[in-house]
Amino acid sequence: MADNKVYRASTTAPVNIAVVKYWGKRDPKLNLPTNSSISVTLSQADLRTLTTASCAACFADGDSLTLNGELSDVSGARIQACFRELRARRAVLETADPSLPKLSRMALKLVSENNFPTAAGLASSAAGFAALVQAIANLYELPDSPAQLSLVARQGSGSACRSLFGGYVAWRMGDKEDGSDSMADLVAPASHWPNMRALILVVSAAKKGVSSTSGMQQTVATSGLFRQRISNIVPTNMAAMEQAIKTRDFAKFAEVTMRDSNSFHACCADTYPPIFYLNDVSKAAIRAVESINAKAGKAIAAYTFDAGPNCVVYYLDEEAPTVLGTFSSVLGSGVTGWKEGSAGIRSSVELEDGIA
Ligand code: ADP
Ligand code: DP6
Ligand code: CO
Repeated sequence: MADNKVYRASTTAPVNIAVVKYWGKRDPKLNLPTNSSISVTLSQADLRTLTTASCAACFADGDSLTLNGELSDVSGARIQACFRELRARRAVLETADPSLPKLSRMALKLVSENNFPTAAGLASSAAGFAALVQAIANLYELPDSPAQLSLVARQGSGSACRSLFGGYVAWRMGDKEDGSDSMADLVAPASHWPNMRALILVVSAAKKGVSSTSGMQQTVATSGLFRQRISNIVPTNMAAMEQAIKTRDFAKFAEVTMRDSNSFHACCADTYPPIFYLNDVSKAAIRAVESINAKAGKAIAAYTFDAGPNCVVYYLDEEAPTVLGTFSSVLGSGVTGWKEGSAGIRSSVELEDGIA
């Protein structure tokens, strides 16, 4: 009998914002990085991707992705690698149990929505590919662990491998040529440091001029400073950051976060021709954090910027009045909201564990 069913599964996935940044590929095809990285996964209550994956024997037009209401190209090698890997894993199950429907042979229809700016330096590719991989894994009822799925998500977008976990997450660069050890692992769950908060300042919701993929390739090809970054700076920052997280040492966490963001943006400036992701409002945010910390006599707030002008400030809940108070008075109208009615400052973005 013909199978007329439409099979469907959904998931949401969170954004993660790196405190030691991934920037550079040693193998662009397998999406293997030049360095390890660490991030903090943010709450899905504020920023998240919602993705529904469906498949049916009657879907005749091939695989498709509708992103934020618009049909998106799925012919790229990276999204194709995700589809291929997930289908292969499903096919193993179908071979082992011939009574299972042959979902691996059906076209996939994906519908995804980000509730925050896409391609603006707020890690949409991270939440986006984590959600894509998790939604298809749910549809295929794959038994794979988050670490195993992180291997697949990495091939869609490097930073996505870290969004398979909540809390404090490392992406170990690995050293195998086939990339089979380049995956995410949990440094500590969110509950380990539950008073950590992130404030997201949306300076611009516009699509960035240079995508992360292309920007990092230009840096690898042209920046001398970048070689210093991957050989010395990142290994030092990785060790210090893991220690700071394990011991809940906020002052150290903050210093390494800010230094690493600065080092990454210095490498962008050292790229030839240079890439500038920060604008004047971003720089005002840096100054605001500096003045908060100077007044406190210690680091109680830490700024970091991905490949875009938007600022993420980490702080501890007990410092919320000081940190939030300073930002609302210093930045005022320079920060634009990304949700109607929002002041632009997303406060109390709590951390949570894992993908729903
Ligand atoms: P960002 O700083 O937002 O991560 P990138 O340049 O790294 O920006 O990646 C943006 C790209 O990620 C988008 O152009 C799109 O191809 C992909 N992307 C973003 N959101 C999703 C999603 N929900 N599902 C699939 N792909 C997505
Ligand atoms: C600055 O993961 O978006 O946000 O692997 O090419 O998709 P691709 O790049 P992507 O790069 C993220 C760069 C970053 C730092 C980070 O998230 O670690
Ligand atoms: Co990205």
